[in-house]
Amino acid sequence: MNYQIKNICCIGAGYVGGPSMAVIADKCIDKIINVVDLNQERIDLWNSSDLSDLPIYEPGLKEIIKRRRGKNLYFSTDLKKHLAEADMIFISVNTPTKTKGIGAGEAIDLKWVEASSRQISQYAKGKTIVVEKSTLPVRTAETIKSILYATLKKDNYDSELKEFFILSNPEFLAEGTAINDLENPDRILIGGDNYDAIKALESIYATWIKKDKIIKTDLWSAELSKLIANAFLAQRISSINSISALCEVTGADIKEVANAIGKDTRIGEFFLNSGPGFGGSCFKKDILNLVYICKYYGLYETANYWQKVIEINIWQQERISNLIINKLFGTVVGKRLSILGFSFKKNTNDTRESPAIKICKNLIEEGAKLNIYDPKVKPKIIEKDLNLKESIEFDKSSELGEWKFASNIYEAAIDSDALIFLTEWEEFKIINWKKISERMRTPKWIFDTRSIYLSKEAEKYGFNIWMIGEGKNYP
Ligand code: NAD
Ligand code: UGA
Repeated sequence: MNYQIKNICCIGAGYVGGPSMAVIADKCIDKIINVVDLNQERIDLWNSSDLSDLPIYEPGLKEIIKRRRGKNLYFSTDLKKHLAEADMIFISVNTPTKTKGIGAGEAIDLKWVEASSRQISQYAKGKTIVVEKSTLPVRTAETIKSILYATLKKDNYDSELKEFFILSNPEFLAEGTAINDLENPDRILIGGDNYDAIKALESIYATWIKKDKIIKTDLWSAELSKLIANAFLAQRISSINSISALCEVTGADIKEVANAIGKDTRIGEFFLNSGPGFGGSCFKKDILNLVYICKYYGLYETANYWQKVIEINIWQQERISNLIINKLFGTVVGKRLSILGFSFKKNTNDTRESPAIKICKNLIEEGAKLNIYDPKVKPKIIEKDLNLKESIEFDKSSELGEWKFASNIYEAAIDSDALIFLTEWEEFKIINWKKISERMRTPKWIFDTRSIYLSKEAEKYGFNIWMIGEGKNYP
């Protein structure tokens, strides 16, 4: 059988569903793509006439939306209609860690995947290829398949008309570089057991990606490979972060060490930037899920090994907040500190699991008054992340920690004792040090957790400088 895919539906208009469908629409203008979501507000933002209102900030995204929206790319909450029309359905819903019940704190909550499967079972018509795009525990395809068919059994008439083929096609894009990652991926992974369904998905990607980059496997290897790719990436960050602390006490420099080891092609130069710990919605939850799966199969040593990657990440964030407090004479009560960057990395407005959240919470807990600036994160998101309302004015008579949003770095620096760089935004590389230093109290500090401070100029204005992994002040 040869599938002609004309109509694609994607459930989930998030950081993966939105950009990945936008790129497919841009590359395959003969396909109609509907991205559906339960969240009306999110869909309204995707449909906004002002493209700066899109719910996701990604370089290059708004240009594609401008080109394709309303032509072959649509955003809607009408799941029923678009699932019924689709030949191929991508499941791209959130898969967070379970917060209660069996496996709470480790296992993935499949609630949204289950709901999507039920919707597909109910509304899809004829032969439908169902593609797992979300990151899922190994063997989830089995669960999806049983839900798709279990619902049908109740309705014999329907079951004669409906047939489903399940594929695993995990997404490897990174936020901030999503469009480039989707247009020029290192590889595309398709797992499945139906030749024609695999061919149908392959033919979509083959429109713009060379066939030798398209890897085809069984379902379980594809599902597991996604978790393992994230685990290996996160492990590199925990490895380099653990060594950053060693550099600081021995006089070595983490950048020199990373450069020297990265030149070995077996190690490779990428993903060796030491920082305040990895953030983002996926590394932590995917490793926790790996830990859970290993324990489930009785592989406790494997589980403990990966658990350590998470522990080092938490330790790095604690280590940074503690050393800031120690360097500011052991107390930050009532002190104003400038937090520069709140997103989990540059070029995204996403703050999920951002190290800034933990570090800011620790400093607020210690009584600091934080001026927070980020070029893309909105104050209402910070309010939610810190679980603390923004202050209109700081209360000088109170020893309680507080925070306020600043509209630029110079405003954030007013009366501040320290500039704390938590995200590596490009604009932080071009600072007018004279202007910023005039606004601050002395002694003034720079805490650079991202090694972005490249200019020697700041030293002229009397800053004390601490940079991650830099042992220059040793002993
Ligand atoms: P997200 O939270 O940004 O988006 C998920 C969307 O799905 C939400 O808008 C939600 O309302 C919607 N949704 C949930 N259940 C629904 C249902 N039953 N019907 C309709 N809509 C529904 O999540 P995300 O960051 O896009 O991640 C999605 C998946 O992709 C996760 O499994 C994640 O691990 C994986 N992933 C994420 C990234 C990334 O960079 N964010 C990269 C690769 C893979
Ligand atoms: C990561 C993976 O890179 C993607 O391949 C994957 O698809 C995605 O997770 C996912 O499954 O969600 P993402 O989290 O968007 O992508 O961004 P990364 O570039 O991987 O950065 C993650 C975190 O690690 C950030 O906080 C970043 O600042 C930090 N990081 C990254 C470092 O501290 N050092 C580095 O060298 C690289």
